[in-house]
Amino acid sequence: MTLWCMLYVLQSLFVLYVRIMEQDLKMYTRSQLALRNGQDRDEIWVAYKGLIYDVTTSRLWRNGKHYEHWAGQDLSEELEQDAPHTHHVFDKFQVVGKLKH
Ligand code: HEM
Repeated sequence: MTLWCMLYVLQSLFVLYVRIMEQDLKMYTRSQLALRNGQDRDEIWVAYKGLIYDVTTSRLWRNGKHYEHWAGQDLSEELEQDAPHTHHVFDKFQVVGKLKH
């Protein structure tokens, strides 16, 4: 029982930490995101559910292309509709900012 309580507290602290980190993130417009499409600049970024991920190091996103999908944009709907995987593929990539609405 005590172990579960400790795990619960740890998880809550982690969620809080993630929220605080997200608040400090820089905001980017869609045009700024579009420049990171793998063609115009070295960085390759993809937005998912309001957060922008840096996938530059991924060989699966080379030149900004990933199975007919282009980086530099919000691909939230595409991931839900087309992808054979979940959003957990983003877990190992760094969040570089938030997408301005
Ligand atoms: C036709 C649609 C798609 C196909 C067939 C596809 C296929 C794959 C495959 C086979 C992998 C590697 C295995 C895995 O981690 O499960 C992968 C990784 C990944 N996919 Fe997709 N995907 C699709 C759409 C998308 C979309 C729309 C997004 C973005 C929102 C996305 C983001 C990613 C990311 C970030 C990775 C991790 C790359 C890495 O580990 O280097 N995928 N995808």
